[in-house]
Amino acid sequence: MSIIEILSTEKYISGNEISKFLGVSRVAVHKQINELKKMGYAIGSSSKGYILIKNGKLLFNEYEIKANLRKQLDICKTIKYYEEITSTQTAVKKLAEKGFGEGIIVVAEKQTKGYGRIKRMWNSNAGGLWFSMLLKPVISPDESSKLSLLLSIALKRIFEKEYGIGSEIKWPNDILIFGKKVAGIIIEMSAEQDAINWIVAGIGININNSLPENLENISISLKTVLKKEIDRAEFMAAFLTEFENLYFDFQKNGFVQFLEEYNNKIAYKGMFVTIDSGYDVITGKNFGIDENGKLILELDNKLEKIVSGTLRKAEK
Ligand code: BTN
Repeated sequence: MSIIEILSTEKYISGNEISKFLGVSRVAVHKQINELKKMGYAIGSSSKGYILIKNGKLLFNEYEIKANLRKQLDICKTIKYYEEITSTQTAVKKLAEKGFGEGIIVVAEKQTKGYGRIKRMWNSNAGGLWFSMLLKPVISPDESSKLSLLLSIALKRIFEKEYGIGSEIKWPNDILIFGKKVAGIIIEMSAEQDAINWIVAGIGININNSLPENLENISISLKTVLKKEIDRAEFMAAFLTEFENLYFDFQKNGFVQFLEEYNNKIAYKGMFVTIDSGYDVITGKNFGIDENGKLILELDNKLEKIVSGTLRKAEK
C-alpha cells in the first residue's frame, strides 16, 4: 500500500497509523508527506494527523494512474514515473534486456530524447502522455506488427468512448483527429526465429502539451480539440484497461476479429496515397488492410500488398 492510498480516505489519519501501515518510521512518513506536497498534493495537518484535500489539480504520477485503474492489470504490474527521462522506450528496452517480465511501464512528464518510427525525433514536452510498456506476447515474431494495429484500435476506442471524439487510423498506427496526428506508436522487438523474447511498445499522445510551430499544421493535442485540460492519469488508466482486453483476446483468438473495426476507421480509404518504403515511393488507391495487417493498394488495376512504409495522402 502506498501513502497516497492510505490518505485517499480523505479523513484525518495520524502519523503513527501511517507509519504502522507502511512499516516505516515517523520521520520517514514526514519526509514522504513533504515529497507529496512537492508533487502538488494538498495535505493538511493538525493534532489529528494528516488529511488529503481535493484541490482540483490534475496531478500525474504513478499513484494517480494506479488510483484510476479499476482492477489490477497484467500489462501494468509496475509503473515507474519520471519527471524527466531521455526516452521511456530506451529505459524499458534496458529493463527488457536485463530479463524483467511483462507488465512494466515507464512513463514520463518529459523526454529529452523521445523518438518515433525510423528514429525520427519525437517532440515530448511536458503535458503530453509518453510511456512504454514491456510485453511478452505468446505469438510468432511475424505477428508482432499486429500489436501496433491493436494499440491504435485501443486508442481510437478511448477517444470515442471516453471523450466522444471520432478519430482515424493512418496505417499502420498513427491516430488522426481532424486529419492531424494526435498519437503515434512504436514497436521494438527482440526475437529468435520463432519466438519473441520481448516487445517494447511506446505510445506518445499529445494531450495537454503545446506543439512547436513547425508541427502545428500536422499535429494536434487533445486539449486543443476539447478546449480543456485532460486528466492524463484517467486517460492512461482507461487506455491500459482497453488494451489489456484486446491484447489477451488477440493472443487467444487472432487478429481477424478486429479487421473490420480497423478498416472502418482507416484514414484516406478509397483515396490515392503514397507509400515511402525508404528505398521506393509508390502511389496507389488505398483499399484498407488484409488479415495480416498488410496495406492493400491498387496500382495500375492490380492489387498489391504493402508490408511497411510511411503513408501520405497523395498530392493528385
Ligand atoms: C511515431 O509516430 O513515430 C511513434 C512515436 C512514439 C513516441 C513514444 S513517446 C513514448 C515512447 N518513448 C519514445 O522515445 N518514443 C515513444
